Amino acid sequence: MRRILIATSNPGKLRDFAGAAAAHGTEIAGIPGFASLPPVAEDGLTFEENARKKAEAYSRYVAGEIVVADDSGLEVDALKGAPGVHSARYAAPDLHDKEPHEADQNTADEANNARVLRELTDVPVEKRTGRFVCVLAAARDGKTLATFRGVAEGIILDAPRGANGFGYDPLFYFPLIDKTFAELTAEEKARYSHRGAAFRQFLEWCDRRGH
Ligand code: IMP
Repeated sequence: MRRILIATSNPGKLRDFAGAAAAHGTEIAGIPGFASLPPVAEDGLTFEENARKKAEAYSRYVAGEIVVADDSGLEVDALKGAPGVHSARYAAPDLHDKEPHEADQNTADEANNARVLRELTDVPVEKRTGRFVCVLAAARDGKTLATFRGVAEGIILDAPRGANGFGYDPLFYFPLIDKTFAELTAEEKARYSHRGAAFRQFLEWCDRRGH
């Protein structure tokens, strides 16, 4: 069975990758000792930039292996694309009195969701469109080999719904199957999510290259 090394400590992302991989006879594994490796500054202006930075940095620790890193987030049209690359730290002004790009730690999902809801107060449903974006970078020995982009289009609700998933999942309504992302099973999240879409492209690339 093919085995892919994933550079993340986010349990929600790992679950999503495991779900997406299971459907394709692929096993995913973490990088050995990942938690004790120095963190990579996610200071890029785009998802691509951050995904490449992470994949390149972590691939240096496992010579000769392909390492995959994900950078992802929620883009809300009424907020001009925010939280975007700052999705994981969007509540930093509320919690730490810092702008998200200055924050040195992620902020809790509940606080991030609360900020998005507050900023969308009184925005009508037809203007609450947005999307999850996931960019995967595959790197080996410090060089990016390829990147893959997956997108899921939806609507930001005015209250959370559902208990599965992580991050902004409870606010993200996906009209195609009339559920929020927090109401999806692992199989559904793999099929419909931005991360699943990017991961499938990555697996097709592996197939073409014989990895
Ligand atoms: P990063 O890619 O580690 O910088 O963080 C991405 C952030 O975007 C996460 O902490 C979540 O807040 C949000 N996010 C990315 N993908 C998802 C998803 O599948 N569901 C919910 N939130 C997500």
